[in-house]
Amino acid sequence: MENKVILITGGAGFIGSHVVRRFVNRYSNYKIVNLDKLTYAGNLENLKDVEDKTNYIFEKGDITDLEFINQLFEKYQFYGVIHLAAESHVDRSISNPLEFVLTNVVGTVNLLNAAKTIWKGNFENKIFYHVSTDEVYGELGDDGKFLETTPYDPNSPYSASKASSDHFVRAYHHTFKLPVKISNCSNNYGSHHFPEKLIPLMINNILQNKALPVYGKGENVRDWLFVEDHARAIDVIFHQGKVGETYNIGGNNEWKNIDLVKFLCQLMDKKLNRQEGDSEKLISYVTDRAGHDFRYAIDASKLTNNLGWEPSVTFEQGLEKTVDWYLANQDWLEHVTSGAYKNYYQNMYSNR
Ligand code: NAD
Ligand code: DAU
Repeated sequence: MENKVILITGGAGFIGSHVVRRFVNRYSNYKIVNLDKLTYAGNLENLKDVEDKTNYIFEKGDITDLEFINQLFEKYQFYGVIHLAAESHVDRSISNPLEFVLTNVVGTVNLLNAAKTIWKGNFENKIFYHVSTDEVYGELGDDGKFLETTPYDPNSPYSASKASSDHFVRAYHHTFKLPVKISNCSNNYGSHHFPEKLIPLMINNILQNKALPVYGKGENVRDWLFVEDHARAIDVIFHQGKVGETYNIGGNNEWKNIDLVKFLCQLMDKKLNRQEGDSEKLISYVTDRAGHDFRYAIDASKLTNNLGWEPSVTFEQGLEKTVDWYLANQDWLEHVTSGAYKNYYQNMYSNR
């Protein structure tokens, strides 16, 4: 695989920046084109360490802009696509569902069409890899895990838009034989995570001695995976996964929100030399998220058994690395929380 040009969409975001970094550093024989609109969630500061590499190119653009996307495919003649660009926050999807339809559904179909057009039916060795979420499967009760065969049952506008995009990807494979791969991953955590999501929001608020807003009773359960393990899974599936297949990716690491927040408080107290119990006093139970899915849990045994992938760090190790990164990069936090973030926070949390 020499000198192949790969398009990574959403590479300036949280997971995308880890995928770009991994591919740029590991595969000097690839040219990595990062296409990102730089919404509030996209930040080129996330990629400072690779921006000068000769196998990396940044293109600012919008996946909903059909003409731009077609021109980009024409210009670079991509060999592969790894599609991560999306609106990704469930709470924002409740406030503004249409934005999610445009980016997640229309944007994905634009990319599928551009790949189909440029590859002109010559699909040998081509790959269109769509990165998706476990939320498409809906919610679980106390038992069971999501399998690749679990029927889709999305509950939020975000998960409905991701489910729709997954269906389009599969339809392009079935109808046009486009060589697609899909993965559905559980909750990620790690460095460069925008502080609208649970873990970075709590880290930021603990640092600032601000209330820690736990939705409902804090009993909802999520399955947390270190973001670098997700990036490695994407690498493995991109290179070794079977065309037309779906792979679930998860951390085998379920936490009730309230237990996770308390665990994080204890860790931060130690790191900040605070009295044990100081940060926990900031916990504040607030109005629940509308339609809040109770539990997600992934069965990733297909990926482990077929491609040999497994998480590489425990939650304790991954969370400590994450907290250390935020403590060492408080200027990053300040940059992303100045300006528009203040209005977002006020609107999302003042009436809870
Ligand atoms: P993110 O919100 O941090 O980043 C999204 C990126 O997409 C940003 O850089 C943004 O600028 C870009 N983008 C948004 N709209 C765009 C548009 N119209 N055109 C071009 N670029 C645009 O998201 P993330 O958490 O890194 O998630 C990345 C992908 O992984 C998403 O598809 C998401 O559904 C999926 N996913 C996320 C998680 C998670 O826990 N964060 C878990 C499973 C799957
Ligand atoms: O499961 C994968 C999904 O995980 C991804 O597809 C999404 O892009 C990603 O945002 C994430 O969705 P969640 O809704 O699970 O993540 P979030 O961090 O928003 O919330 C995690 C849990 O914490 C959830 O039960 C809601 C709760 N929560 C969240 C916030 C932001 C709180 O209790 N308080 C908060 O302030």
